[in-house]
Amino acid sequence: MAPPSTFRGVNSCSSLGIGLAGFGTVGSGVWNTLHRNGQLITGRTGGGVTLHISKILVRDPARVRATVTEVPREVFTTDWRALVEDPAVDIVVELIGGTTDAFEIVAAALRARKPVVTGNKALLAERGVELFALSKEMDTPIHFEAAVAGGIPIIRTVQDSFIGNRIHSFSGIINGTSNYILGRMTDAGLTFEAALAEAQALGYAEADPALDVNGWDAAHKAILLATLAYGFPIDPKEIHVSGIEQVRPTDIAFAKNLGYVVKLLAVIREHADGSVELRVQPSFIAKSNILASVHGVFNAVAVHGDAAGESLFYGRGAGQDPTASSVVADLVEAARSLRQTTGHRGFLPYRESGELRPVSETSTAYYVRFDVTDRPGVVAEIATVLAAHRIGISGIHSPVDPSDPDAEFKDMVFLFHTCSFGKLQSALDEVAELDCINSTPVVFRIETLG
Ligand code: HSE
Repeated sequence: MAPPSTFRGVNSCSSLGIGLAGFGTVGSGVWNTLHRNGQLITGRTGGGVTLHISKILVRDPARVRATVTEVPREVFTTDWRALVEDPAVDIVVELIGGTTDAFEIVAAALRARKPVVTGNKALLAERGVELFALSKEMDTPIHFEAAVAGGIPIIRTVQDSFIGNRIHSFSGIINGTSNYILGRMTDAGLTFEAALAEAQALGYAEADPALDVNGWDAAHKAILLATLAYGFPIDPKEIHVSGIEQVRPTDIAFAKNLGYVVKLLAVIREHADGSVELRVQPSFIAKSNILASVHGVFNAVAVHGDAAGESLFYGRGAGQDPTASSVVADLVEAARSLRQTTGHRGFLPYRESGELRPVSETSTAYYVRFDVTDRPGVVAEIATVLAAHRIGISGIHSPVDPSDPDAEFKDMVFLFHTCSFGKLQSALDEVAELDCINSTPVVFRIETLG
């Protein structure tokens, strides 16, 4: 007869205690999901995994939402050390965000040999190399499915399902908040600010929504995917990121007329020379592309593996229950790791270095909006500079009625043929010097995917 399986010092039938650091949208979702589906989880793991939350770290217990009524007050603490060191806590879940206190909590849990579950992409993108080295040293895993694309199991897909593939590319809509905002601006004509307020009310946005709209939340997720796929540490300072703050209804209308939609797109691609392109930018994608149909808070990641070919992963990328779904899956994985050594599962580099392709050497076509002072000759002045840089123009548009002799325009939109971003940037720097140009030109990539 097989010997009874045991957790580290705990019998397999024992209930495992969870220390939940953070009890906001996702934390309370984890509480609800475990209460709703706890028995189901225990049943599905053959009785091996029974999870209960034994400590919750909050800033102020008095301010815990009234809606989460069943939580006994004695589980709350305001001291993260008390949570990590509590003998009743076997697994630590970090959901407080940020890269300072969160780092301390995760590092302390690993040193105490307590598996960690986190949804903190900023922490792992900025300080993951240190934390995964510690995870390896302590032989204690960090699980982070919830860090990328909410309820979509994309981390497991890359770590497990696609482990036998050389991954050629990822193209992803991986920030729910910005996708929601762009959608509401497109469909309901909302202002950027009104759409952001809605996304915050729905619990999609980060505690600091600047990260959602400036592209960095998506960039942190892209760094995690690229590091898993290509195995070398990626310095966030070396990648090109721009967000949706400068997207105007004009751009959305132009995109629509031209057969495109505007999306904040993360592109990760391995080139034939082994260099890796990684960038996050507002982009025009053809209405016929499947990613154009990703609306609201939904995320989608298209993965191209050499063996699997094209796959698309689609689902809710933010929000309470979808993100809690990923945290709970990781909790079960963490519980299993307490029973048996599963090996290191993070993104500790497996090669010393790799080459990140400079954004100046990445090429697409472009849509560029210029804020101009209307006067005869403006178009010629801009076109002359572009011609000198040997950049082809495929379209010029201005939103004025040509039959109105008094109409003045402010926005002038150019479409440019494919060229390197470096070449475009040099030309735009020169255009910006023209006295008819009032502010920095706004650039969108026109992406040809797949
Ligand atoms: N703020 C993030 C988003 C949540 O909007 O996608 C999930 O990471």
